[in-house]
Amino acid sequence: MKAILTTPPKGGVKIAEIKLREEKGLRLRTLRTGICGTDKEIVEGRLNFARTETGNELVLGHEALAIVEDSGDSNEFKKGDIVVPMVRRPGNCRMCRLGRQDYCEDGDFVEAGIRGKDGFMREEFYDKEKFLVKVNDKSIADLAVLTEPMKNVMKMVEIFNFQRNRIPTYCDDSTMNCKNLYVFGTGTEGLLISAVFKTMGLNVIAVNRHPPDDTVAKFLEINDINYLDTSKESISSHSKKYKMDFAIDAVGSMDIMRDISLNISNNGISILFGTSGQMPSSNYEFLGNLVDKNIAVIGSVDGAKVHYAEAIEFISNYGRKMSLDRLITGIYKPEETGIFTNKEKGEIKKVIQWS
Ligand code: BGC
Ligand code: ZN
Repeated sequence: MKAILTTPPKGGVKIAEIKLREEKGLRLRTLRTGICGTDKEIVEGRLNFARTETGNELVLGHEALAIVEDSGDSNEFKKGDIVVPMVRRPGNCRMCRLGRQDYCEDGDFVEAGIRGKDGFMREEFYDKEKFLVKVNDKSIADLAVLTEPMKNVMKMVEIFNFQRNRIPTYCDDSTMNCKNLYVFGTGTEGLLISAVFKTMGLNVIAVNRHPPDDTVAKFLEINDINYLDTSKESISSHSKKYKMDFAIDAVGSMDIMRDISLNISNNGISILFGTSGQMPSSNYEFLGNLVDKNIAVIGSVDGAKVHYAEAIEFISNYGRKMSLDRLITGIYKPEETGIFTNKEKGEIKKVIQWS
């Protein structure tokens, strides 16, 4: 069968014929896989924790949608069911045994297509039912490839809801209508964050350093999400008019952390998701603000099975209404491996169609 392979930590990408290794569980046929920044970093040899499962090649792909070909002895799934496989697989620590490998305590986990486990960019694979999440609503089959990046957002909602009980953060009418959330980054993850938090009643401001391209502008308009172009107006000026109550970063640049800590309101909540590793252009004095302003800063990576299920539910309820299809800006054949290194104009999420 066809598979897309890389050689970590060196990177590179190629399509090759590999054998289907028989494993315990269900036999699945891949329908679609998405590619994201993590895949690109692996291919460019920039993700230092990328590693193979066996030998010196890794099957890429952690964002997938698949169909059950053979359900084995599963009671939960049958042939023809559509499923999303989970990325991270547990080790033996306490959190992993609770199904919260996203909060793994000792790092003894593997991640499909990223570290220590072959991924889903191949025609078929085997998986255990425990790591599969069913998509009951087949009408969202075209969008459900967004489940994996969206599960990261659902974990952020969980974190956000814990934090906002620290100090009540709702408005005096019990809603969050008067509260502003700044979301840094307008790639897939940034836009999914903006969409999900918008449905919680917040005023969402998507932030980037340049004007939005047409696809992004249209998506934001449909969903009544505001845009701040920091090449035209600074964060500090904008946040004087629209208080930065909450901030979520999907970029990972130190300068954004600086902007957040300098401009966020007292008792603010900020969630850091981005990992681009862009280093600071300034000193670290701004960190003092976090203390003086009681700011909660929470790092967030990955998500648990419950968040995959919530993501599927969200896509089923809001996917069409919020035009999530606009985020899928290109559908490609597995052979078109140039998509890992080229950046298309207006690209948001690229998807590979397997069958
Ligand atoms: C995935 C996460 C994963 C992280 C780090 C992200 O692209 O969505 O599930 O934990 O990469 O490997
Ligand atoms: Zn990803």
